[in-house]
Amino acid sequence: MYGRYWREMGEKARITIAGWQSMSYFSGGSDVCWFLEAELGEEVRRLHRVVGNAVTEGRHIVVGTGSSQLILAALYALSPRDASEPITVLSAAPYYSSYASMSDYQKSGLYKWGGDAEKYEKEGPYIELVTSPNNPDGHTRRSVVNRTHGFVVHDLAYYWPQYTPISAPADHDLSLFTLSKSTGHAGIRLGWALVKDREVAKKMTKFIELNTIGVSKDSQLRAAKIMRVVSDSCEQREGESFFEFNYKVLVQRWKQLRAVVERSGLFSLPTFSPAFCTFYGFAWLKCEWEVEDCELVLKQHNILTRSGKHFGPCAAEIVGQPREGGKRGDAESAGCQKASDGQTNDEGCGEQDGAEDDKEGRGDGETDDGGGEGEAGDHEKKSTEREEGGEC
Ligand SMILES: Cc1ncc(COP(=O)(O)O)c(C=O)c1O
Repeated sequence: MYGRYWREMGEKARITIAGWQSMSYFSGGSDVCWFLEAELGEEVRRLHRVVGNAVTEGRHIVVGTGSSQLILAALYALSPRDASEPITVLSAAPYYSSYASMSDYQKSGLYKWGGDAEKYEKEGPYIELVTSPNNPDGHTRRSVVNRTHGFVVHDLAYYWPQYTPISAPADHDLSLFTLSKSTGHAGIRLGWALVKDREVAKKMTKFIELNTIGVSKDSQLRAAKIMRVVSDSCEQREGESFFEFNYKVLVQRWKQLRAVVERSGLFSLPTFSPAFCTFYGFAWLKCEWEVEDCELVLKQHNILTRSGKHFGPCAAEIVGQPREGGKRGDAESAGCQKASDGQTNDEGCGEQDGAEDDKEGRGDGETDDGGGEGEAGDHEKKSTEREEGGEC
């Protein structure tokens, strides 16, 4: 989806790395995360400042090989070492389908998947993963368990202006972001965590040290360059910013998808209250007729999706992806910090007017890298993404 923008950027986003550069494991930085490239740290802080979507003051930045690695690092860091049993990991259904498998695939003695946070009744420590806006349904989320002995990890992969209005900087103890969803560069494999507590940041860093002895310097330098181009596009205000451009692409795709879904009479899509409208990079599609395996039916029509059953109990819907549409839409702008104007856009969605309550407790690229869309590990979707056209 983001490929068009980056192709237009051409030389502006190019970097050259000489053979002698970035050879060491170390970065020479002085913060907790010893393998973080200083340049990347600066661009992360700048981008959040420009966009206004997260507080970075008083936070340690921990860089990871995608936010996937950081999710595991956070689980490792937050799990008590002296507990008699693994800490429970929860998320309110429907949840990002990888959380369950990530939590359980190594059968860790530190943590284990506990399922739907809404149904958690046990006492005792837990880690809640809060995704906002949520994958797969796009809703704004807050923590639902709210008990003592709980840790909350805020997965803010989609808290960017092309997806949702940014009305307040996220101010959490531990937030995760990723280049795959912010700029579309899933293939760079780069994510970052903003961590308040130094000891937690140190443990996350240790996890990554044990896991991959740091994060590719080439990826960090390329990510820094990409972020600089995005921040510049916001600050220079010549033409459209990265976010304005891609918001329009998303709006256009959603228009086409909604039209097709409505015409079919066979499916429905979530509706959002005007104040919370989001244009996320995938669709939470419900089959409105009796069907055993909607994923299979859609596959027979060359539409690749992931069955709702992967997203938690009672999730009978299907997740698919709207594809790149033809011409650009004329939606209201999404922008850099506070660019929203409180009006209703052409999707019937109003901008969120200070209602984010995002304080603590709230909770086709040339290389066809997926443009950051969809599920990590959902590789079979690639063939769909290569096709142009907005029809399902
Ligand atoms: C909510 C959410 N978190 C994390 C990830 C993982 O992203 P990555 O490992 O590319 O940073 C994804 C990818 O689909 C996601 O949707």
